[in-house]
Amino acid sequence: MAEKKKVAVLVSGGGTNLQAILDAEDSGIIKSGEVSVVVSSKDGAYALERAKNHNVEALTLPRKDYADRRAYSDALRAELEKRNIDLVVLAGFMIILDESFIKAFENRIINVHPALIPSFCGDGFYGLHVHEAALAKGVKVTGATVHFVNEVCDGGPIILQKAVDIEPDDTPETLQRRVMVQAEWKLLPQAVELFCAGRLEVDGNIVRIK
Ligand code: GAR
Repeated sequence: MAEKKKVAVLVSGGGTNLQAILDAEDSGIIKSGEVSVVVSSKDGAYALERAKNHNVEALTLPRKDYADRRAYSDALRAELEKRNIDLVVLAGFMIILDESFIKAFENRIINVHPALIPSFCGDGFYGLHVHEAALAKGVKVTGATVHFVNEVCDGGPIILQKAVDIEPDDTPETLQRRVMVQAEWKLLPQAVELFCAGRLEVDGNIVRIK
């Protein structure tokens, strides 16, 4: 069997998507890659505990310790290059990275977004705000998207999407949970495996699954 791809997961909070990836490694859904480091942009993020519980290296790189986006991105890039990372997964990572970082890992960074892109995405649409906006608009269906990251916020080639129904008495919190359970926690591990198995081909805006 080919050597497993080295995956870095970047987090800022609770890390339930990280947990879904770690569980998928245990259950064999992810077999072509393994998480070798988890990096948090925040001190004390619970995601770091999840990494430690799984014997994965957990690193904190606080955004506040760096003067600007470029300095932060350079430091992060150095940490990942030191570990020969093949794939960078943004799993609830709330920091926008510099273009130089995105170029260095071109078509090797994936992000999970809690809506059906191009709806409810871009600047300011993160975490609970995304679900607040979907409820305020009155859409009947939302979902999640896993996509490659390019220099446009939430604008990179789409890998996988899954729709989730909105219920009449949803709150942002109940909707967030349903989108995670029904879509994010399934799509993200699937996308990680597809990438690590070499099954994703990017052709402009289009991702083909081989
Ligand atoms: C997830 O819903 C993820 O899609 C979202 O933040 C949450 C993180 O939860 N990400 C974004 O909004 C990025 N634009 P988690 O820490 O439990 O995985």
